[in-house]
Amino acid sequence: MIKYHQTRIISVPRGVLKENRLIALFDELPQADQYKILKTQVLQRTKIRGLNTLMITSPSANEGKSLTAANLAICLAKELQNTVLLADLDLRTPSLHSLFGLSPVRGISDFFMRDTPLSELLISPGIHKLTILPGHERVYNSSEVMGSPKMKNLIEEMKQRYQDRYIIFDSPPLLDYADSLILSDYVDGIILVTEYAKTLFDKLEKAAQLLQGKNLIGTVLNKAAI
Ligand SMILES: Nc1ncnc2c1ncn2[C@@H]1O[C@H](COP(=O)(O)OP(=O)(O)OP(=O)(O)O)[C@@H](O)[C@H]1O
Ligand SMILES: [Mg+2]
Repeated sequence: MIKYHQTRIISVPRGVLKENRLIALFDELPQADQYKILKTQVLQRTKIRGLNTLMITSPSANEGKSLTAANLAICLAKELQNTVLLADLDLRTPSLHSLFGLSPVRGISDFFMRDTPLSELLISPGIHKLTILPGHERVYNSSEVMGSPKMKNLIEEMKQRYQDRYIIFDSPPLLDYADSLILSDYVDGIILVTEYAKTLFDKLEKAAQLLQGKNLIGTVLNKAAI
């Protein structure tokens, strides 16, 4: 059971968040509007249909999954009616904690490997209505953890518990590990991030093939000049 009232609040200086490109926090920056467009499209494609668990993935490494997941989560939390849980399911290379300037001593791996209750792992980064379920250590058998009944039950519970909450899952590269493909069966929607002038067409095609029949709600062309 996830108990929000126990969530630790750790506020990080805004300068650090800006340096780490959490642009969606800064309305005055022009790039913030790109994330607002993304958020609006996500709302349009999910709200009416009650889709609330979304995975952010990309064909390969370094294309911008984590930054997109974090900025989208911030934008959704800024909407008056939503609360958001941002969960680091890139079990091999967790990075959301660093993006938010956090150094947790425990993370989601402790839930799976040491039975630590989720309520002890959640962090509120001082951003209204946003909660983070961070990672911290590398999990090398991440695909097995991802495919475990415990993971399936966790996501099922997250999905059912609150209607007005979005859960954004950061995840590993789709073509490099089985993890995101496994996760794609549990979530309501998938967003595929690609990198401008970098993502190769055959990789994009392969990713699209892997996601065929699943609910790909959109793609993001990241790192393009605006
Ligand atoms: N839109 C963007 N504009 C500028 N830099 C970006 C943008 N998106 C991501 N980056 C930078 O690119 C790098 C990779 O981003 P990020 O960590 O979000 O990618 P990732 O796909 O999650 O990587 P990994 O596969 O390692 O998990 C980071 O240094 C990040 O700051
Ligand atoms: Mg990442």
